[in-house]
Amino acid sequence: MKPLAFINFKTYPQGSGNKSVAFAKKLKKIKSPYKIIAVPQLVNLSEVSKHLPVYAQHADCVQLGRNTGYVAPKSLKLAGCQGVFLNHSEHKIPFRKLSATIKECRKVNLKVLVFAGSLSAINKMLKLNPDYIAYEPAKLVGGKISVTSANPKVISKAAALVKKKKKVKLIVGAGVHSKSDVETALLLGASGIAVASAIMKGTDKQIQ
Ligand code: G3P
Repeated sequence: MKPLAFINFKTYPQGSGNKSVAFAKKLKKIKSPYKIIAVPQLVNLSEVSKHLPVYAQHADCVQLGRNTGYVAPKSLKLAGCQGVFLNHSEHKIPFRKLSATIKECRKVNLKVLVFAGSLSAINKMLKLNPDYIAYEPAKLVGGKISVTSANPKVISKAAALVKKKKKVKLIVGAGVHSKSDVETALLLGASGIAVASAIMKGTDKQIQ
């Protein structure tokens, strides 16, 4: 299976409004050795899902019904989502709520990627049996130093921890900028990477 590249559009201008679809089309044209998964803003999910596999940036622990302003996992599924990001460092969820939210996502067959910023957080997240754990130290997110150069030993240890649960895969993110950052992550035992700023704020050359 190809390594995964989750591209988090966050709320960057390039990933907002009509630009999000244009950007997804551009990503689709790239001959990439990675399986690209777009993570657009919620309002653009349906449109972007016509061009690339999509995950949502967040979901709430609610079912279809009286929940004004919340994001029901079932609604995400109906919008064409394959999975969800949960507990990103920019959108943390208390552990108990996270556990309940994962259960709601499972009921509607959404894949789950949870974020963890340390080895102890990874250990905690493993108890929730997600499909993916993304190791992202918050202080490196959006910065110029890649997690692969700042914390390579932690990545190896994270890979060993995650391997103990056969069905869970490790994703690595924060400051990933270059092809070699991605290759290092894979060499250290990750199944893929999560990236935002380098792509969303990058030139066409960087995107390739
Ligand atoms: O979800 C991935 C994201 O948080 C990484 O952000 O800007 O460091 O690539 P960035």
